Amino acid sequence: MTDLAIVHCRQLVTLAGPPGARSGAAMRSLAIIADGALRIRGGRIAAVGSRAEIERSLSEDTAIVDAGGRIVLPGFIDAHTHPVFAGSRAAEFERRVEGATYAAIAASGGGIGTTVRQTREASAATLLAAARRYQDWFLSGGTTTIEAKSGYGLSLDAEIKILKTIRQLKADGRLRYVPTFLGAHEIPGEYRGRIGDYVDLVIQEMLPRVAEDNLAEYCDVFCEPNVFPVEQARTVLRAAQALGLGLRVHADQFSADYGSLLAAELHAATADHLEASTPAALAALHAAGVQPVLLPASVYTLGSTRYPAARRMIDLGLPVVLATDFNPGSSPTASMPMVLSLAATQMKMTPAEAITAATINAAHSLRRGHQIGSLEPGKFADFAIHDCDDYRELPYFFGRDTALAVYLAGTCVYRRGT
Ligand code: NIG
Ligand code: FE
Repeated sequence: MTDLAIVHCRQLVTLAGPPGARSGAAMRSLAIIADGALRIRGGRIAAVGSRAEIERSLSEDTAIVDAGGRIVLPGFIDAHTHPVFAGSRAAEFERRVEGATYAAIAASGGGIGTTVRQTREASAATLLAAARRYQDWFLSGGTTTIEAKSGYGLSLDAEIKILKTIRQLKADGRLRYVPTFLGAHEIPGEYRGRIGDYVDLVIQEMLPRVAEDNLAEYCDVFCEPNVFPVEQARTVLRAAQALGLGLRVHADQFSADYGSLLAAELHAATADHLEASTPAALAALHAAGVQPVLLPASVYTLGSTRYPAARRMIDLGLPVVLATDFNPGSSPTASMPMVLSLAATQMKMTPAEAITAATINAAHSLRRGHQIGSLEPGKFADFAIHDCDDYRELPYFFGRDTALAVYLAGTCVYRRGT
Protein backbone atom coordinates (compact mmCIF):
# COMPACT_ATOMS: atom_id res chain seq x y z
CA MET A 1 0.00 0.00 0.00
CA THR A 2 1.37 3.44 -0.95
CA ASP A 3 2.25 5.80 1.86
CA LEU A 4 1.15 9.39 1.77
CA ALA A 5 3.03 12.32 3.29
CA ILE A 6 1.71 15.80 3.96
CA VAL A 7 4.59 18.26 4.09
CA HIS A 8 5.10 22.00 4.31
CA CYS A 9 2.55 22.68 7.05
CA ARG A 10 3.42 26.04 8.60
CA GLN A 11 1.61 24.83 11.71
CA LEU A 12 0.69 21.19 12.19
CA VAL A 13 -1.88 21.49 14.97
CA THR A 14 -1.78 17.97 16.41
CA LEU A 15 -3.70 18.22 19.70
CA ALA A 16 -1.50 15.36 20.89
CA GLY A 17 -1.89 14.89 24.62
CA PRO A 18 -3.02 12.61 27.40
CA PRO A 19 -5.95 10.29 26.75
CA GLY A 20 -9.37 11.61 27.70
CA ALA A 21 -11.25 14.85 27.11
CA ARG A 22 -9.35 18.04 27.98
CA SER A 23 -10.41 20.46 30.68
CA GLY A 24 -9.14 23.61 32.36
CA ALA A 25 -5.70 24.84 31.28
CA ALA A 26 -5.19 21.70 29.14
CA MET A 27 -7.73 23.11 26.68
CA ARG A 28 -5.12 25.69 25.66
CA SER A 29 -2.49 23.16 24.72
CA LEU A 30 -2.63 22.34 20.99
CA ALA A 31 0.77 20.63 20.61
CA ILE A 32 1.65 22.54 17.43
CA ILE A 33 4.62 21.49 15.30
CA ALA A 34 6.07 24.38 13.29
CA ASP A 35 6.95 23.36 9.73
CA GLY A 36 5.46 19.98 10.50
CA ALA A 37 4.62 16.93 8.42
CA LEU A 38 2.52 13.78 8.59
CA ARG A 39 3.07 10.29 7.22
CA ILE A 40 0.01 8.13 6.53
CA ARG A 41 -0.30 4.41 5.87
CA GLY A 42 -3.49 2.49 5.27
CA GLY A 43 -5.66 5.47 6.13
CA ARG A 44 -4.06 5.94 9.53
CA ILE A 45 -1.40 8.27 10.83
CA ALA A 46 1.95 6.50 10.88
CA ALA A 47 4.18 9.36 12.01
CA VAL A 48 4.01 13.02 12.97
CA GLY A 49 7.02 15.30 13.22
CA SER A 50 9.06 18.10 11.74
CA ARG A 51 9.35 18.24 7.98
CA ALA A 52 12.98 17.16 8.17
CA GLU A 53 12.18 14.14 10.35
CA ILE A 54 9.32 12.96 8.18
CA GLU A 55 11.16 13.51 4.89
CA ARG A 56 14.01 11.36 6.15
CA SER A 57 11.63 8.45 6.74
CA LEU A 58 9.94 8.46 3.31
CA SER A 59 10.33 5.66 0.78
CA GLU A 60 10.62 6.09 -3.01
CA ASP A 61 6.98 5.48 -3.74
CA THR A 62 5.47 7.74 -1.05
CA ALA A 63 2.94 10.16 -2.56
CA ILE A 64 3.65 13.68 -1.33
CA VAL A 65 1.08 16.43 -0.76
CA ASP A 66 2.46 19.95 -0.31
CA ALA A 67 0.26 21.89 2.15
CA GLY A 68 1.63 25.11 0.68
CA GLY A 69 2.74 26.58 3.99
CA ARG A 70 -0.82 26.57 5.31
CA ILE A 71 -2.09 25.17 8.60
CA VAL A 72 -3.23 21.59 9.08
CA LEU A 73 -5.73 20.61 11.75
CA PRO A 74 -7.58 17.43 12.71
CA GLY A 75 -10.98 17.45 10.99
CA PHE A 76 -13.57 19.22 13.08
CA ILE A 77 -16.02 16.94 14.87
CA ASP A 78 -19.42 18.57 14.89
CA ALA A 79 -21.13 16.78 17.78
CA HIS A 80 -24.65 18.24 17.37
CA THR A 81 -26.40 18.57 14.01
CA HIS A 82 -29.83 18.04 12.44
CA PRO A 83 -28.76 17.58 8.80
CA VAL A 84 -31.65 15.65 7.23
CA PHE A 85 -34.72 17.75 6.47
CA ALA A 86 -36.69 19.03 3.49
CA GLY A 87 -37.23 22.65 2.53
CA SER A 88 -35.99 25.68 4.41
CA ARG A 89 -37.51 28.13 6.88
CA ALA A 90 -36.40 31.34 5.17
CA ALA A 91 -39.96 32.70 5.37
CA GLU A 92 -40.09 32.18 9.15
CA PHE A 93 -36.64 33.69 9.41
CA GLU A 94 -38.05 36.84 7.84
CA ARG A 95 -40.96 36.80 10.33
CA ARG A 96 -38.51 36.51 13.21
CA VAL A 97 -36.52 39.42 11.88
CA GLU A 98 -39.77 41.39 11.89
CA GLY A 99 -40.38 40.57 15.55
CA ALA A 100 -42.12 37.18 15.87
CA THR A 101 -40.44 34.94 18.45
CA TYR A 102 -39.21 31.38 17.87
CA ALA A 103 -41.58 30.19 20.62
CA ALA A 104 -44.62 32.03 19.17
CA ILE A 105 -43.96 30.61 15.70
CA ALA A 106 -43.65 27.12 17.18
CA ALA A 107 -46.86 27.54 19.23
CA SER A 108 -48.81 28.38 16.06
CA GLY A 109 -47.75 25.12 14.41
CA GLY A 110 -44.73 26.56 12.61
CA GLY A 111 -41.09 26.07 13.55
CA ILE A 112 -40.14 22.42 13.83
CA GLY A 113 -43.73 21.58 12.74
CA THR A 114 -43.17 23.28 9.37
CA THR A 115 -40.08 21.21 8.67
CA VAL A 116 -41.81 18.03 9.86
CA ARG A 117 -44.63 18.49 7.33
CA GLN A 118 -42.15 19.04 4.48
CA THR A 119 -39.89 16.18 5.55
CA ARG A 120 -42.78 13.71 5.81
CA GLU A 121 -43.86 14.58 2.28
CA ALA A 122 -40.37 14.38 0.78
CA SER A 123 -39.20 11.21 -0.95
CA ALA A 124 -36.09 9.46 0.34
CA ALA A 125 -34.28 10.59 -2.83
CA THR A 126 -35.17 14.25 -2.25
CA LEU A 127 -33.98 14.08 1.37
CA LEU A 128 -30.74 12.43 0.34
CA ALA A 129 -30.04 15.04 -2.34
CA ALA A 130 -30.60 17.88 0.13
CA ALA A 131 -28.40 16.27 2.77
CA ARG A 132 -25.61 15.69 0.21
CA ARG A 133 -25.62 19.41 -0.54
CA TYR A 134 -25.18 20.14 3.18
CA GLN A 135 -22.44 17.51 3.33
CA ASP A 136 -20.36 19.79 1.13
CA TRP A 137 -21.03 22.73 3.43
CA PHE A 138 -19.64 20.79 6.39
CA LEU A 139 -16.59 19.77 4.40
CA SER A 140 -15.84 23.30 3.19
CA GLY A 141 -15.35 24.36 6.81
CA GLY A 142 -12.99 21.47 7.54
CA THR A 143 -15.43 19.12 9.31
CA THR A 144 -14.86 15.36 8.94
CA THR A 145 -17.33 13.86 11.45
CA ILE A 146 -20.84 14.90 12.41
CA GLU A 147 -23.31 13.62 14.95
CA ALA A 148 -26.56 13.54 12.95
CA LYS A 149 -29.98 13.58 14.58
CA SER A 150 -33.33 12.48 13.22
CA GLY A 151 -36.32 14.41 14.57
CA TYR A 152 -38.13 15.92 11.60
CA GLY A 153 -40.25 12.82 10.99
CA LEU A 154 -42.04 12.26 14.33
CA SER A 155 -43.78 9.13 13.02
CA LEU A 156 -42.33 5.65 12.88
CA ASP A 157 -41.97 5.63 9.10
CA ALA A 158 -40.65 9.16 8.75
CA GLU A 159 -38.09 8.78 11.55
CA ILE A 160 -36.86 5.54 9.99
CA LYS A 161 -36.71 7.26 6.57
CA ILE A 162 -34.40 9.92 8.07
CA LEU A 163 -32.16 7.44 9.90
CA LYS A 164 -31.84 5.36 6.73
CA THR A 165 -30.86 8.51 4.85
CA ILE A 166 -28.10 9.04 7.42
CA ARG A 167 -26.98 5.46 6.84
CA GLN A 168 -26.76 6.16 3.09
CA LEU A 169 -24.81 9.35 3.66
CA LYS A 170 -22.38 7.39 5.79
CA ALA A 171 -21.89 4.95 2.91
CA ASP A 172 -20.83 7.85 0.64
CA GLY A 173 -17.59 7.82 2.64
CA ARG A 174 -17.04 11.58 2.46
CA LEU A 175 -17.96 12.44 6.04
CA ARG A 176 -18.27 10.27 9.15
CA TYR A 177 -21.78 10.23 10.63
CA VAL A 178 -22.77 9.27 14.17
CA PRO A 179 -26.56 8.78 14.14
CA THR A 180 -28.82 9.92 16.98
CA PHE A 181 -32.54 9.18 17.32
CA LEU A 182 -34.49 12.34 18.23
CA GLY A 183 -38.08 11.13 17.97
CA ALA A 184 -38.85 13.33 20.99
CA HIS A 185 -37.97 16.57 19.24
CA GLU A 186 -41.50 18.01 19.24
CA ILE A 187 -45.03 16.72 19.69
CA PRO A 188 -46.46 16.29 16.18
CA GLY A 189 -49.72 18.09 15.37
CA GLU A 190 -51.85 14.92 15.40
CA TYR A 191 -50.79 14.25 19.02
CA ARG A 192 -51.34 17.80 20.28
CA GLY A 193 -52.61 17.61 23.87
CA ARG A 194 -51.81 13.86 24.00
CA ILE A 195 -48.16 13.87 24.98
CA GLY A 196 -48.52 10.58 26.86
CA ASP A 197 -49.72 8.83 23.70
CA TYR A 198 -46.83 10.24 21.73
CA VAL A 199 -44.29 9.15 24.36
CA ASP A 200 -45.84 5.67 24.18
CA LEU A 201 -45.34 5.66 20.40
CA VAL A 202 -41.70 6.69 20.85
CA ILE A 203 -40.88 4.06 23.45
CA GLN A 204 -43.07 1.20 22.25
CA GLU A 205 -42.63 1.44 18.49
CA MET A 206 -39.87 3.79 17.43
CA LEU A 207 -37.10 3.02 19.92
CA PRO A 208 -37.32 -0.80 19.64
CA ARG A 209 -37.18 -0.56 15.83
CA VAL A 210 -34.25 1.88 15.94
CA ALA A 211 -32.35 -0.42 18.27
CA GLU A 212 -33.24 -3.58 16.39
CA ASP A 213 -32.11 -2.19 13.04
CA ASN A 214 -29.07 -0.57 14.63
CA LEU A 215 -30.04 2.81 13.23
CA ALA A 216 -28.70 5.04 16.04
CA GLU A 217 -25.95 5.12 18.65
CA TYR A 218 -27.56 7.82 20.77
CA CYS A 219 -31.00 9.03 21.79
CA ASP A 220 -31.75 12.72 22.38
CA VAL A 221 -34.82 14.55 23.73
CA PHE A 222 -35.75 18.23 23.48
CA CYS A 223 -36.34 18.79 27.19
CA GLU A 224 -38.35 21.97 27.85
CA PRO A 225 -41.43 22.46 30.05
CA ASN A 226 -43.69 23.15 27.05
CA VAL A 227 -42.20 20.46 24.77
CA PHE A 228 -41.00 17.36 26.66
CA PRO A 229 -41.05 18.16 30.39
CA VAL A 230 -38.58 16.34 32.63
CA GLU A 231 -40.93 13.49 33.51
CA GLN A 232 -41.65 12.55 29.87
CA ALA A 233 -38.05 13.17 28.83
CA ARG A 234 -36.88 10.81 31.58
CA THR A 235 -39.25 8.09 30.38
CA VAL A 236 -37.89 8.29 26.83
CA LEU A 237 -34.24 8.49 27.86
CA ARG A 238 -34.52 5.58 30.31
CA ALA A 239 -36.15 3.42 27.66
CA ALA A 240 -33.31 4.29 25.26
CA GLN A 241 -30.70 3.54 27.89
CA ALA A 242 -32.27 0.14 28.53
CA LEU A 243 -31.86 -0.62 24.81
CA GLY A 244 -28.16 0.23 24.96
CA LEU A 245 -28.27 3.68 23.39
CA GLY A 246 -26.09 6.50 24.72
CA LEU A 247 -27.83 9.70 25.79
CA ARG A 248 -27.59 13.34 24.69
CA VAL A 249 -30.09 15.96 25.85
CA HIS A 250 -31.30 19.31 24.46
CA ALA A 251 -31.11 20.98 27.86
CA ASP A 252 -31.79 24.45 29.31
CA GLN A 253 -32.08 26.13 25.91
CA PHE A 254 -34.84 28.41 27.17
CA SER A 255 -35.66 27.25 30.72
CA ALA A 256 -33.24 26.77 33.58
CA ASP A 257 -32.13 23.42 34.91
CA TYR A 258 -34.77 21.00 33.70
CA GLY A 259 -32.73 19.22 31.10
CA SER A 260 -29.30 19.60 32.64
CA LEU A 261 -30.28 18.04 35.97
CA LEU A 262 -31.92 15.16 34.12
CA ALA A 263 -28.77 14.70 32.01
CA ALA A 264 -26.75 14.58 35.24
CA GLU A 265 -29.17 12.13 36.89
CA LEU A 266 -28.95 9.74 33.93
CA HIS A 267 -25.21 10.25 33.34
CA ALA A 268 -25.86 11.27 29.76
CA ALA A 269 -22.86 11.67 27.46
CA THR A 270 -23.75 15.32 26.85
CA ALA A 271 -26.08 18.14 27.80
CA ASP A 272 -26.45 20.49 24.85
CA HIS A 273 -27.35 24.22 24.63
CA LEU A 274 -27.22 25.26 28.35
CA GLU A 275 -28.00 28.91 27.63
CA ALA A 276 -30.25 29.13 30.70
CA SER A 277 -28.29 26.91 33.10
CA THR A 278 -27.58 28.02 36.67
CA PRO A 279 -24.18 27.54 38.33
CA ALA A 280 -25.68 24.71 40.42
CA ALA A 281 -26.69 22.85 37.27
CA LEU A 282 -23.18 23.20 35.84
CA ALA A 283 -21.76 21.77 39.05
CA ALA A 284 -24.17 18.82 38.73
CA LEU A 285 -22.98 18.16 35.16
CA HIS A 286 -19.39 18.22 36.36
CA ALA A 287 -20.07 15.85 39.23
CA ALA A 288 -21.86 13.43 36.88
CA GLY A 289 -19.21 13.52 34.13
CA VAL A 290 -21.56 14.97 31.50
CA GLN A 291 -19.91 17.01 28.73
CA PRO A 292 -21.49 20.36 27.82
CA VAL A 293 -22.06 20.94 24.09
CA LEU A 294 -22.32 24.67 23.35
CA LEU A 295 -24.17 25.91 20.27
CA PRO A 296 -23.50 29.64 19.93
CA ALA A 297 -24.70 29.80 16.31
CA SER A 298 -28.26 29.08 17.47
CA VAL A 299 -28.07 31.92 20.02
CA TYR A 300 -26.81 34.20 17.26
CA THR A 301 -29.48 33.14 14.75
CA LEU A 302 -32.30 33.62 17.24
CA GLY A 303 -31.03 37.17 17.83
CA SER A 304 -30.45 36.46 21.50
CA THR A 305 -27.52 37.68 23.56
CA ARG A 306 -27.78 34.93 26.18
CA TYR A 307 -24.75 32.78 25.34
CA PRO A 308 -23.84 29.84 27.56
CA ALA A 309 -21.35 30.55 30.33
CA ALA A 310 -18.34 28.96 28.66
CA ARG A 311 -15.75 30.62 30.90
CA ARG A 312 -17.49 29.47 34.04
CA MET A 313 -17.69 25.93 32.62
CA ILE A 314 -13.98 25.90 31.78
CA ASP A 315 -13.11 27.27 35.22
CA LEU A 316 -15.20 24.50 36.78
CA GLY A 317 -13.21 21.90 34.84
CA LEU A 318 -15.92 20.85 32.38
CA PRO A 319 -14.53 19.43 29.08
CA VAL A 320 -16.49 21.80 26.85
CA VAL A 321 -17.54 20.85 23.30
CA LEU A 322 -18.55 23.25 20.50
CA ALA A 323 -20.93 22.33 17.66
CA THR A 324 -22.99 24.03 14.95
CA ASP A 325 -26.51 22.67 15.77
CA PHE A 326 -26.99 22.83 11.97
CA ASN A 327 -30.78 22.86 11.41
CA PRO A 328 -33.30 24.84 9.32
CA GLY A 329 -34.74 26.82 12.23
CA SER A 330 -32.41 28.01 14.96
CA SER A 331 -29.03 27.44 13.33
CA PRO A 332 -28.76 27.33 9.54
CA THR A 333 -24.98 27.05 9.42
CA ALA A 334 -22.70 24.06 8.94
CA SER A 335 -19.57 26.13 9.52
CA MET A 336 -17.35 25.20 12.44
CA PRO A 337 -15.03 28.18 11.70
CA MET A 338 -18.07 30.44 12.22
CA VAL A 339 -18.77 28.67 15.52
CA LEU A 340 -15.14 29.21 16.57
CA SER A 341 -15.54 32.92 15.84
CA LEU A 342 -18.71 33.13 17.96
CA ALA A 343 -17.04 31.15 20.74
CA ALA A 344 -14.19 33.65 20.82
CA THR A 345 -16.08 36.91 20.45
CA GLN A 346 -19.27 36.08 22.37
CA MET A 347 -18.15 33.51 24.94
CA LYS A 348 -14.52 34.60 25.39
CA MET A 349 -13.05 31.21 24.67
CA THR A 350 -9.49 31.53 23.37
CA PRO A 351 -8.86 30.26 19.84
CA ALA A 352 -6.98 27.28 21.31
CA GLU A 353 -9.78 26.40 23.74
CA ALA A 354 -12.31 26.61 20.92
CA ILE A 355 -10.26 24.31 18.67
CA THR A 356 -9.89 21.77 21.49
CA ALA A 357 -13.67 21.91 22.03
CA ALA A 358 -14.28 21.34 18.31
CA THR A 359 -11.91 18.39 17.91
CA ILE A 360 -10.62 16.14 20.67
CA ASN A 361 -13.31 17.00 23.23
CA ALA A 362 -16.04 16.48 20.66
CA ALA A 363 -14.49 13.11 19.73
CA HIS A 364 -14.64 11.98 23.35
CA SER A 365 -18.28 13.04 23.63
CA LEU A 366 -18.99 10.55 20.81
CA ARG A 367 -16.87 7.73 22.32
CA ARG A 368 -14.37 8.12 19.50
CA GLY A 369 -11.51 9.83 21.30
CA HIS A 370 -9.20 6.87 20.58
CA GLN A 371 -9.80 7.07 16.81
CA ILE A 372 -10.22 10.72 15.80
CA GLY A 373 -9.92 14.27 17.16
CA SER A 374 -6.13 14.62 17.14
CA LEU A 375 -3.25 13.89 14.78
CA GLU A 376 -1.42 11.10 16.58
CA PRO A 377 0.02 7.81 15.34
CA GLY A 378 -2.63 5.09 15.08
CA LYS A 379 -5.57 7.43 14.63
CA PHE A 380 -7.48 7.88 11.38
CA ALA A 381 -5.88 10.41 9.04
CA ASP A 382 -8.86 12.78 9.15
CA PHE A 383 -7.58 16.31 8.67
CA ALA A 384 -7.99 19.58 6.77
CA ILE A 385 -5.59 22.04 5.19
CA HIS A 386 -6.94 25.49 6.05
CA ASP A 387 -6.34 28.74 4.19
CA CYS A 388 -4.61 30.39 7.19
CA ASP A 389 -1.06 31.23 8.25
CA ASP A 390 -1.79 30.82 11.96
CA TYR A 391 -4.43 28.78 13.80
CA ARG A 392 -5.74 31.97 15.45
CA GLU A 393 -6.83 33.21 12.04
CA LEU A 394 -9.57 30.56 12.01
CA PRO A 395 -11.84 32.53 14.37
CA TYR A 396 -10.31 35.87 13.38
CA PHE A 397 -10.96 36.06 9.59
CA PHE A 398 -14.57 35.01 10.02
CA GLY A 399 -17.45 34.25 7.67
CA ARG A 400 -15.60 32.30 4.98
CA ASP A 401 -14.97 28.71 3.92
CA THR A 402 -11.52 28.03 5.27
CA ALA A 403 -10.75 24.50 4.05
CA LEU A 404 -8.52 24.16 0.98
CA ALA A 405 -8.59 20.37 1.15
CA VAL A 406 -10.11 17.78 3.47
CA TYR A 407 -8.93 14.17 3.96
CA LEU A 408 -10.85 11.30 5.49
CA ALA A 409 -8.76 8.24 6.39
CA GLY A 410 -6.03 9.58 4.14
CA THR A 411 -8.28 10.06 1.10
CA CYS A 412 -9.00 13.53 -0.27
CA VAL A 413 -12.79 14.01 -0.03
CA TYR A 414 -12.96 17.75 -0.66
CA ARG A 415 -10.88 20.31 -2.50
CA ARG A 416 -11.84 23.97 -2.69
CA GLY A 417 -13.13 25.05 -6.08
CA THR A 418 -13.68 21.56 -7.44
O1 NIG B 1 -31.33 22.51 18.71
N1 NIG B 1 -34.38 23.23 20.02
C1 NIG B 1 -34.68 22.26 19.36
N2 NIG B 1 -34.08 21.82 18.27
C2 NIG B 1 -33.27 22.60 17.42
C3 NIG B 1 -34.05 23.54 16.56
C4 NIG B 1 -34.79 22.81 15.52
C5 NIG B 1 -35.58 23.66 14.58
O2 NIG B 1 -35.91 24.84 14.87
O3 NIG B 1 -35.90 23.12 13.52
C6 NIG B 1 -32.15 23.25 18.21
O4 NIG B 1 -32.03 24.48 18.32
FE1 FE C 1 -30.31 20.93 18.27
